[in-house]
Amino acid sequence: MISRLLLCSLFLTSVASAVEVSLISQNVWFILTASVPAMDRIPDYIAEFRSGTYDILCLQEVWSGTQTTYPDLLFEGLKEVYPYNVSTEPRPLTGLNLGLDSGLMILSKYPIESFAFHQYGNSSGIDAFSGKGAMTAHIKVPDDDGSTRDLIVSNTHLNAGGPLEIRLNQAREMRNSIDRFLKNLEETEGLDIDKVPVFGLGDFNTDEWNDELTEVQEGYQQLLGVLGPTTKDIFRSLYPPDVEVGLTTSSSRIDFVFGLSGEYTVVSAGVDGFVQTANPAFRLSDHLGAHATVKLEPLSANGGASSTESSDSSMFGLCWSTMSLLFLFSSHLMTYA
Ligand SMILES: *[C@@H]1O[C@H](CO)[C@@H](O)[C@H](O)[C@H]1NC(C)=O
Ligand SMILES: *[C@@H]1O[C@H](CO)[C@@H](O)[C@H](O)[C@H]1NC(C)=O
Repeated sequence: MISRLLLCSLFLTSVASAVEVSLISQNVWFILTASVPAMDRIPDYIAEFRSGTYDILCLQEVWSGTQTTYPDLLFEGLKEVYPYNVSTEPRPLTGLNLGLDSGLMILSKYPIESFAFHQYGNSSGIDAFSGKGAMTAHIKVPDDDGSTRDLIVSNTHLNAGGPLEIRLNQAREMRNSIDRFLKNLEETEGLDIDKVPVFGLGDFNTDEWNDELTEVQEGYQQLLGVLGPTTKDIFRSLYPPDVEVGLTTSSSRIDFVFGLSGEYTVVSAGVDGFVQTANPAFRLSDHLGAHATVKLEPLSANGGASSTESSDSSMFGLCWSTMSLLFLFSSHLMTYA
């Protein structure tokens, strides 16, 4: 009986060892044309993010020209909660650029093992003078039992304006750069790249909706297609279009958390409007945050999905019979007490 109970509780612990991870994509609007200077809004962002609501922050428009001021301030203000970060180096004012980097920054509560940045070759208009791209990080999420879960997060900001084809080409570049990153992890660390959960977040500048918010745009469907056959718009997987439009700007839905591939379970998703309420005097951004929480299970054993299942179900049977016995035993005691 005792050993059965022990087995049973061991089994229950291993079931309970899935970890939940929350991610948010937020365009922070640190752009010179914003109505309130970035320096006046950074303290509000720090105060807000210090609450640690999300485990991983994917930020866009942390533009800092030829200096690292904005990423440095964010990192300094948040390092107790988010000790790990990646941002791109500022670009020198040489050649035909505005000294603008990618504007991308990832802040994480959990260790960032490695990362890669790919600058897009496709771009148009004023964006061609910046260094937009896709920033992909390999993050190790710790579990209660001392083990870790691998997680891949890619943060991006696609071309603003111009033809859709530019953004679709950038999304293809993003997909390719993630595949290269994964391939490398497979070769160097033996990572199971078919099962590791991969997420793509950011400001995709591709509206899900037409102007009347009545029809889903073909460009949005194409974006999903280009990002790969297993791509899932996590918010949309929970809220059908007729239930929640899910706008992330005043008139469009362009910020997304996409599940690209791998094993994970969706827990929740939503649009976070803290930028509208954090400071009553002004808005922190012209974009709202798109967030999602997912559950990461230990990756299933290679080629052993069915055998894992059968041993799990026999364990379930054992636990169930043990619990029924316990129940009988205690109700027996109660009857005679
Ligand atoms: C985080 O950012 C700071 C400031 O930009 C930098 O000095 C530090 O090396 C970064 N840390 C990591 C782990 O990327
Ligand atoms: C533009 O994107 C396509 C598709 O991703 C890619 O094949 C091509 O190399 C890119 N162009 C440049 C200049 O990088």
